[in-house]
Amino acid sequence: MSRFFSALSCTLLAVAMISVDAEAAYDVASGKATYDATCAACHNSGLLGAPKLGDKTAWAPRIVQTLDDMVSKSIKGFQGKTGTMPVRGGDAKLTDAQVGNAVAYMVGLVGQSK
Ligand code: HEC
Repeated sequence: MSRFFSALSCTLLAVAMISVDAEAAYDVASGKATYDATCAACHNSGLLGAPKLGDKTAWAPRIVQTLDDMVSKSIKGFQGKTGTMPVRGGDAKLTDAQVGNAVAYMVGLVGQSK
């Protein structure tokens, strides 16, 4: 069982790394740790209108933006059509790099191309 999960997480990581290959500035592996600690609270379930992790339909209208645009909106927070994304996901202690890495991890799973 644990072998299954480690194989699964390796696959997810590989997919994410391939997808954000052009964005060498972001560290997807450490982004996952930030995601799990902070962002998962809303983005795992779609709480408060958050686009769910890996949900291509929810992310399709978002990934037409550049990754940098999504990172900067996530740092500043924004009110969108489905809800309110809080400043730094609600954790003021996160650095810009940590938020950027988490966004790169999230969008990497749905095929960000820019
Ligand atoms: C309290 C709930 C909540 C938490 C925690 C949260 N988010 Fe969000 N996030 C949202 C909501 C709601 C939206 C959708 C806003 C909209 O477009 O209407 C969103 C949207 C986004 C988007 C899409 C941006 C876009 O341009 O469409 C990104 C990227 C994102 N969040 C990243 C993060 C990251 C990274 C974290 C953790 C550091 C995080 N979020 C934590 C609620 C949350």
